Amino acid sequence: MADDTTDTKSSNQMWGGRFASGPDAIMEEINASIGFDKKLFAQDIRGSIAHATMLAHQGIITTDDKDKIVHGLNTILSEIESGNFEFSRQLEDIHMNVEARLATLIGPAAGRLHTARSRNDQVALDFRLWVKEELQKTERMLTGLIAAFLDRAEEHAESVMPGFTHLQTAQPVTFGHHCMAYVEMFGRDRSRVRHAIEHLDESPIGAAALAGTGYPIDRHMTAKALGFREPTRNSIDTVSDRDFAIEFLSIAAIAGMHLSRLAEEIVIWSTPQFGFVRLSDAFSTGSSIMPQKKNPDAAELVRAKTGRINGSLVALLTIMKGLPLAYSKDMQEDKEQVFDAAESLELAIAAMTGMVRDMTVNTARMKAAAGSGYSTATDLADWLVREAGLPFRDAHHVTGRAVALAESNGCDLAELPLSDLQAIHAAITDKVYDVLTVEASVASRKSFGGTAPSEVRKQIAFWRARN
Ligand code: ARG
Repeated sequence: MADDTTDTKSSNQMWGGRFASGPDAIMEEINASIGFDKKLFAQDIRGSIAHATMLAHQGIITTDDKDKIVHGLNTILSEIESGNFEFSRQLEDIHMNVEARLATLIGPAAGRLHTARSRNDQVALDFRLWVKEELQKTERMLTGLIAAFLDRAEEHAESVMPGFTHLQTAQPVTFGHHCMAYVEMFGRDRSRVRHAIEHLDESPIGAAALAGTGYPIDRHMTAKALGFREPTRNSIDTVSDRDFAIEFLSIAAIAGMHLSRLAEEIVIWSTPQFGFVRLSDAFSTGSSIMPQKKNPDAAELVRAKTGRINGSLVALLTIMKGLPLAYSKDMQEDKEQVFDAAESLELAIAAMTGMVRDMTVNTARMKAAAGSGYSTATDLADWLVREAGLPFRDAHHVTGRAVALAESNGCDLAELPLSDLQAIHAAITDKVYDVLTVEASVASRKSFGGTAPSEVRKQIAFWRARN
């Protein structure tokens, strides 16, 4: 657990006024959050500096005390950054660890910092600042992943591959088009991230324990100093709310689901049976017993990280669902879920960006697979509708007979002799062979958002302008 220091039985120096003795060792262990919330040290110190500055500006504390407090807090910041800070489990959490150290450094003036605030609004502030920065980082990382896909899509706007439904060959598509499907997904994830930043962009500090405060504070001033759009509007909601953390986790879960589907495709594509892509050495591993193996471990781990992220989302929703307003200590358990999910998501995006950039695409294998499985059957049916005036349902039936014949002959549709096709339907001419190749098939699908190389290039240009 926490890197503890001393374990005396004295009452807590922060809130122990009414306590005769200190907590039981188990109480201390279950209560402490310093083991994980020390991650919030920079946010905690920034928040305290803004709060102290506002208190002095409003005449609630003296400028002299404020200066001492700010100086002391900056000292603590560099102590923690350089690894010269001793965290104590007895002091429970990051807030009290910092304040206790401040008292040692500057004396009684430290006791004035906690005027007009509570740990309830303090932790809400620190955690919001942390989640906001994490969302901003996620936004940048998704932009990098989208850029990687745009480059691969451009390179492969014309490369034909089989498109699948039910993982059965359906119709030929281009690899560029397939890449752009992921651009759409990660683009939506990024826009969810942007909305989440807007939602949480309100400053909690000044809500105090739950009811606000009688001191003449200026919450707009602290909100501005900390880079928030405005202060929150309801002090009870402010200390009860963890929507911002849950929203981060839901966005992470959805993005994780997308990353995991991509991971699954990479696992499938890199099998010798498919052979569509070859992962770089940098993103694969060997087997300790089978010398021929090259395993897609990074993709598999991305798939697994998604499970962890989903777990964190469900955990926090469950922690919060039964809590009466306002703050309850249950809420202290919010942080580990978010920290763990954030680490998993960052790793997953980084690994996928690397894999997408590095993998070698075997266009010959893709093209050969695109032509198998009668993938141009729909093109034959469409030709019969267009050129011979058949209703689509009849054309579907005729095509089905052609596929059955090709199957029994063990050949492709394009290899059936014209006489055989004409025996199935008299209106078929040798022009039909123009649409039976995979290239003709993809080139014909020019509908908006379709797989034709010309359309794919339009979509790439659309996203380049937005990335
Ligand atoms: N460590 C606590 C948390 O993470 C800080 C808030 C404590 N507030 C309280 N009323 N005990 O939630």
